[in-house]
Amino acid sequence: MAYATLDDLLAEGVRGRRVLVRSDLNVPLEGEVPSLKVTDDGRVRASLPVLRKLSEAGAAVIVMAHLGRPKGAPEEKYSLAPAVDVLRELADFPVSLAPDTTGEGARAAAAALADGEVLVLENVRFDARETSKDDAERAAFAREMAQLAGEDGAYVDDAFGAVHRRHASVYDIASLLPAYQGDLVRAELVVLERLTTDPQRPFVVVLGGSKVSDKLAVIENLIGTADRILVGGGMVFTFLAAQGHEVGASLLEEDQIDTVRGYLERGPRDGTQFVLPTDIVVAEKFAADAGHSVVAADAIAAGTYGASGIGLDIGPVTGADFAANIAEAKTVFWNGPMGVFEFDAFADGTRAVAQALTEAQADGALTVVGGGDSAAAVRGLGFADDQFGHISTGGGASLEYLEGKELPGLTALARD
Ligand code: 3PG
Repeated sequence: MAYATLDDLLAEGVRGRRVLVRSDLNVPLEGEVPSLKVTDDGRVRASLPVLRKLSEAGAAVIVMAHLGRPKGAPEEKYSLAPAVDVLRELADFPVSLAPDTTGEGARAAAAALADGEVLVLENVRFDARETSKDDAERAAFAREMAQLAGEDGAYVDDAFGAVHRRHASVYDIASLLPAYQGDLVRAELVVLERLTTDPQRPFVVVLGGSKVSDKLAVIENLIGTADRILVGGGMVFTFLAAQGHEVGASLLEEDQIDTVRGYLERGPRDGTQFVLPTDIVVAEKFAADAGHSVVAADAIAAGTYGASGIGLDIGPVTGADFAANIAEAKTVFWNGPMGVFEFDAFADGTRAVAQALTEAQADGALTVVGGGDSAAAVRGLGFADDQFGHISTGGGASLEYLEGKELPGLTALARD
């Protein structure tokens, strides 16, 4: 697909024009209203360069973004205010937050916006039409946003994390204004293309996170492409169950056991080796201070806590084994924590994988951390962004790309 890019727009000239930018400012928060704090500002930092370029070129910039999944009406806990506070701290240009999305407040703020200034509209998901399944509803909302940019406006999609959503501010708006691909979307695609087009081998994929059902499509697509798939996180218990093991009270998606068993049979036939844990950290309950012990992966229910034991992390032998597999790789893609990394006692598996990726990167491999929880995990565990080849801002989006799915936000930008 061919796209017009931000550089094309800058070459046309933006001084005196209003440019609508879709950014992904969907950051994790902690605390309670009114003192919510951003715990990982990665997406705000990643959104900054495009806003800066446009501001420096003299555009009046109007940012559309979402935070969380509000139910189509304003809710203070989903306000973009904490993300905008971080943006304001990082930015060397004026940043303000509109009181609503396309209401009177936003319209007045957009009309008063001066060249070089950035106005962030309130959470686009405060309007139910943003995510509506009804094309006409979404189009009506997109028109209201496009009107904020006026006659000479333009649209830039820089929200890689949302390109898999057929939403008004991602998809419909691109047909209402001249549309351009932002630098962040471009950079993410360059990396993902390297993973899917002739990756350097061995190509090792590390998958974790809680739900195996979220990863089925990507596993399906990676069998035959990846040389090895290392599995950890809550999803691994469905794999262990598919091998016939008891998993105690660990997370289990019984309805996926047969599908997973099929993958385990197909993998070796198609040249993909599944590497599963040999030991698991099993806890007496789901809590940060829960008692825990390491047991063999094929004997979880026979461990210290019996059938009520819950697996919350891969064990140390597995951590070392995964690290050894990663050390042999020339290309690594990782999505999903290996355990409940938010609890110190169950963060070692995730830390071992993150550490192994940084070492592989230093040895010349391409290492990619796929968005969402994994990005928050590596930063939360104290690793720096530049220790990895790339930390994607898109969790679901990067997985859907690797699944080979059409991404509406990209289709909408494509030019013949
Ligand atoms: C993400 O967090 O992956 C993106 O911001 C998209 O959010 P969504 O899954 O709520 O659409």
